[in-house]
This record gives sequence, structure tokens and C-alpha cells, in this order.
Amino acid sequence: MNVDELDTPSVVIDIDVMRRNLDRMASYCRKYNLQLRPHTKTHKIPELAWQQLRSGADGITVAKIGEAEVMAEAGIKDILLAYPIVSPQKAQRLARLAERAQLAVSIDSEESACAISIQAKEQGTSVGILIEIDVGFHRCGVANEQAAIALAEKVLSLPALKFLGLMFYPGHLLTTLEQRRTLIGPINLLLDKTMDTLKQKGIPVSVVSGGSTPTAYLSHEFHTLTEIRPGMYIFNDRNMVGAGVAQIHDCAAQVIVTVVSTAVSGRVITDGGSKTFSSDRFLAGDGRGFGLILEDHDAVFDAMSEEHGHLDITKSSRRYRLGERLTVIPNHVCSTINMHNEIYGISHRKVAQAWQVAARGRVT
Ligand SMILES: Cc1ncc(COP(=O)(O)O)c(C=O)c1O
Repeated sequence: MNVDELDTPSVVIDIDVMRRNLDRMASYCRKYNLQLRPHTKTHKIPELAWQQLRSGADGITVAKIGEAEVMAEAGIKDILLAYPIVSPQKAQRLARLAERAQLAVSIDSEESACAISIQAKEQGTSVGILIEIDVGFHRCGVANEQAAIALAEKVLSLPALKFLGLMFYPGHLLTTLEQRRTLIGPINLLLDKTMDTLKQKGIPVSVVSGGSTPTAYLSHEFHTLTEIRPGMYIFNDRNMVGAGVAQIHDCAAQVIVTVVSTAVSGRVITDGGSKTFSSDRFLAGDGRGFGLILEDHDAVFDAMSEEHGHLDITKSSRRYRLGERLTVIPNHVCSTINMHNEIYGISHRKVAQAWQVAARGRVT
């Protein structure tokens, strides 16, 4: 089937671009001796997680137990849940899953450590633990090296837990390259202090897990890192282009939409609104638009109803036809794919594959 025969709105993935993105990251990690543990929340598709593993990844990352369950069901054995688990229900599901897969989880509280320990002991399993440190994003993570050591000691004292090391997420480094480089300095200081103190206490650390897509190719500048967890790099998106970490030709995911109305002057309406793209903003430049229209960079995708994409074409000289198709690079690829039951792999405009987004909606 040709891509033009797909009904719209549809998410298509250029398989050749995706493979290039995967190979580039895997060879970077090989060069710097880093383990690669891609975050699969970007696609939520077990077949693509397997493709990442086959092309050089060492394990995967997930955000939700539901995602971990879907990936384990597909036979993936090495999973990091990079999300704090605090309730007994979730700790129990985690412990049950640890019977089928080698599981690790990042935590930033004693409550979390105790909840997981109780359930893993009851289940007769063991769960790997990474202590999350806040390196400046201020979302999760203990504040400093003393708090990290205290939590590591607590983990070591509890049954059915295996202390593995440290984890951090540098989410505040979605900046210019120059600012990213400057912000790595204080992170390195904190990592060095924490690792030194752990060493003095005789606590062995086998994993220091970091990384995101914007920082992925700077990972060798972070001290003590053993693995990285980029997610978006598999497809990239308009925000990654805006942050200067990808070019338009590195964007593997596109949304094909159809022009459904040209009746209002200065406006073009497509069939892709907020239930196709999510409402994520463009984080760079003037912040305008919900995606980039590849056929017309002068059109601004400036508003959305649930099922309508509103394009402002007052600055454009392009003539639009009712029923024609447009290609959009979404602002944020993870939340866009999460809107769709199925996405399509294409190569040279032929539809080569259909993938079920098997873990979409698995938010618990
Ligand atoms: C804990 C954690 N690790 C890794 C990632 C992946 O980073 P990115 O989305 O920049 O690829 C995320 C993304 O939100 C995350 O929250």
C-alpha cells in the first residue's frame, strides 16, 4: 500500500530514518563504553523496543508498571522502571513482575524502599534499586549526597532489595548547547561528591543511569555515567529540532492530515486536532504552532479544536486544495503517538508495517 492510501489522520514512521537514529545512538554508546537503555514511553510498542535491543541497546526503560507488563509480556527481560513506586498495590505488581523479568526501579524515599521490600520479600523475588538524585530539574530525586547515602544505607538494610547505584534525569537541559554544557558542571560536582562518599562508606555502585535525548550526545562529558536512557531519539520531533539536537531530516515520525475546510479566509482546517497531536507547545523560538507543516513553512498551525487543526495561512502564498494531504512534524512525538492505536512504518512512501501502540493508555 502507498502512504497516500492510508486514511487520515495517521502517524507514519520513516523506517530508514528511524534505523539511522538507532544506529547512531548505539554506535555513540559503543564508542564511549556506555550502556544504552532507551526509554520506551516514546513509542510504547514492544516490536520497536525489540528493534532497539537488536540494534545495540542493553535493556529498556519504562515509566509505568503497565508499560513494564506489556514489555515483559513481549519477552523483554531487562527493565528499569524510572518512576517512584509508593503504594502497596503498585509495589505488589512490581514484585510479581520481578518473577518474570530482571527489574530495577528508581526511588527517592524510604517509604518507597520499604513498600517494595515488603512486597518483594512476600513474593520471594528481588528488585534492583537506583537512588534518584535531583541534579537541577527539581521534579524527583534526593537533594544531595548525604541524603543519597542515607537512602542507600536504608536500601542495603532491607530484605529483597538489591542496591545498584544512582539515577538522575537532566530534564532542565532542554536549552541551547552552550547552556547545556554550562549546566553539566554542577551536575558533575554532585555526582563526584556522591560517588566519593559512597566509596568512603564502602558501598559498591555498579550503575549510574542518566541521559535524555537533548543530552545524549554529551553523555561522555558527565562524570561516572555507566548508562543513558534517551527516549525521543528514536524518532525526534519539532522540539528536538528547536533545541538543536536534531535536524528536520532526522525526524522519523510525521502525522499525515487532510485539508477538510478552506471556507474561512486566511484559514485552512485539517482533520488533526488535539486528539491527534496532544496540546504540547513548541518550546523554542517564538513558541508558536502545534507542529511544523512540511509543505509550507509559512503556514502556522496556531490552534486546535479536538478534531480540527487550525492553520493560519495569512503569511503564505501557497494555494490549498480541499482534500489534499499535509505532512506535520509534531511538537512532542511521545504524547502524539500515545493518542493513536496504531502507527505505520513506511519506506520510500510504501507502507511496510503496522504497529499496535500496545502500551498506550497503560497509565497505572
Ligand atoms: C526519567 C526519565 N528518563 C529518561 C527520559 C527520556 O528522555 P527524553 O524524553 O529526552 O528522550 C525521560 C523523559 O521524560 C524521563 O522522564
